[in-house]
Amino acid sequence: MPISRQTIEEVRSRMDILDVVSDFVTLKRAGQQYKALSPFTNEKTPSFFVVPSKGIFKDFSSGKGGDAITFVMEHEGMSYLEAIRYLAKKYGIEIRQEAGDRPDESAQERDSLYIVMNYAKDYFHNLLLHHEEGQAVGLSYFRERGFTDSTIRKFELGYSLDEWHHFSQQALRSGFSQAMLEKAGLIVKREGKDYDRFRGRVIFPVHNLSGKVIAFGARILKQAADRQQPKYINSPETEIYKKGEVLYGLFQARNEIRRQNFCYLVEGYTDVLSLHQAGIENVVASSGTALTEEQIRLIRRFTDNITVLFDGDEAGVRAALRGIDLLLKSDLNVRVVLLPHGEDPDSFARKNSTSVLRQYLSEHAHDFISFKVNLYKDSARNDPLQKAEAIREIVTSIAGIPDPVKRSVYIRETARLLDVPENVLLIELNKLLIQERRRKQQQAAEPQVEPVASVVAGQPLMYADAAAIQQLQERETIRLLLNYAEKLYEDEDGSHNVRDTILQEIEDIEFTHPVCREIIGLYRKAAANNESLNSFYLLDNGSEEVKKLVAELLTNRYSISTHWRDKYHIFITHESEELQDITVRNVLRLKFWLLQQLIEDNLAQWKKSEEEQPGNTSEWEIFIVRHEQYKQAQREIADLLGIVVQR
Ligand code: UTP
Ligand code: MN
Repeated sequence: MPISRQTIEEVRSRMDILDVVSDFVTLKRAGQQYKALSPFTNEKTPSFFVVPSKGIFKDFSSGKGGDAITFVMEHEGMSYLEAIRYLAKKYGIEIRQEAGDRPDESAQERDSLYIVMNYAKDYFHNLLLHHEEGQAVGLSYFRERGFTDSTIRKFELGYSLDEWHHFSQQALRSGFSQAMLEKAGLIVKREGKDYDRFRGRVIFPVHNLSGKVIAFGARILKQAADRQQPKYINSPETEIYKKGEVLYGLFQARNEIRRQNFCYLVEGYTDVLSLHQAGIENVVASSGTALTEEQIRLIRRFTDNITVLFDGDEAGVRAALRGIDLLLKSDLNVRVVLLPHGEDPDSFARKNSTSVLRQYLSEHAHDFISFKVNLYKDSARNDPLQKAEAIREIVTSIAGIPDPVKRSVYIRETARLLDVPENVLLIELNKLLIQERRRKQQQAAEPQVEPVASVVAGQPLMYADAAAIQQLQERETIRLLLNYAEKLYEDEDGSHNVRDTILQEIEDIEFTHPVCREIIGLYRKAAANNESLNSFYLLDNGSEEVKKLVAELLTNRYSISTHWRDKYHIFITHESEELQDITVRNVLRLKFWLLQQLIEDNLAQWKKSEEEQPGNTSEWEIFIVRHEQYKQAQREIADLLGIVVQR
């Protein structure tokens, strides 16, 4: 059913961007705005911004941006209506339906999957606690393993009866369709027959970040362990469950991870449960598979620090070595704890008191590089070949670390521990880095267009890509309009507003960037009709491209200006400066880069005519005159702007 306009309005008026985003991302205050690592990409420096005063967010690394509704849609993968529903629930707003249009089908399907999974979770949980078989088999199994009622409740554990159709019959009776149960992976269809997927097992529900159940893991019981079945049966992937994008326990752990600013990573469901029960709540499980980048991204929303717990046998060590380069590559600070021989986190946590456990974990947490060095150290001591191998292994891990400062710290440490000169390691490291860079360059389908005006201190500018810089300047024009169109300033001729000044000055300039051109067109049209154009109107009514750019430009990112200053020698003056000055300078810069392009075009034409008719000097004069005119105009502008122009 569609949601009534009234409800949507109410949600819009009540939602608070800061509050909504904070449920998923740890924000740090930065002046009037808040920033964080992008929850959408695997970035290393924060470029995700929230501007509470404007009710918007902008993620510079993925390009996403918009209001609180957009955020929920993007972040939770929801449809518009799902996001409205989510926000209504969050703010306790009653949802009123509106008869009429057809609802969004895929959103509806996802919603019903959540509902059926929630139903199943309650069903399994109730059986465990109240059904005779559930208590006798399931509950007593958990009790035997030492799990308390509070753990059972917190993780909503359950039990599935050892029957073929008990669940599906109940669910059908409660009004769920056969097709829906199948879509949710709760029943299996084989050779025309349907039966319940989970039978005679204890159940571990898997939650998403907002606490909804999206999958189940079902463990075999001891008595049945010889039946040659897999230890765990898991939900298949569905519309709401992508295995590689989920971490078991993150929902229960996330606040503690944030609070302690680090996270333990273990393998299994029971490891998470046992550590929680021992009071260590900042723990998640990869569920027995190698970590994916998506999962790492999930962790990095809450912390940069991860400690991986490994079983203390050879297999554990090998697993440690395998998984960790990926973590290092994501710029996480990785530590490793090897548990005593034969123990996994679950058994070890149960055998020891909380204080012993904590002490062990903190005393045995090794920085990953030293862990690796120590592994190789003994074998490498007397064997030069082994030593060379060890060096290569370790330096390869180090080469994956994006942060150069960290890399050099690790190199120094490795040199010390392995007793080799630092230089040897650095040479090896550089070799690897260069190889990697080459590989990346070859991989890049299209060359990175980096609009470089290379600036060497004290030297004039070299223009590498005037067209690209002009587009940046066009964006800056749009940014000024969006933020200050109606602002007035005074000069000797009286009072002007920013919009009129800009529009007049660029009257005969055609913007080259398509979205900027679209927006400037809207401003021109509005001005011609004597109307004012509100930025929020664009945010609400513009095309997707327009909305994206508007959200980005309304978010005042300081790093843009430093970036521009360092790279292009263009000063985007701080907003505290006089608006007039900013506006005038913007227009001047725009013209400056336009002239630069004219100059380059002219030179190109000149060159071409030279090639076509060598020695024909009769045309030269045209080119020379034009060149001089452009250069002169550019120099005048440059004088006003105070920049040095290349002759
Ligand atoms: P473990 O075999 O270590 O299981 O596998 P566990 O959870 O620690 O269980 P206990 O302690 O023996 O009772 C680690 C994880 O690998 C996945 C599960 O997510 C499990 O928690 N796994 C394992 C499967 O998905 N299927 C399997 O058959 C086995
Ligand atoms: Mn285990």
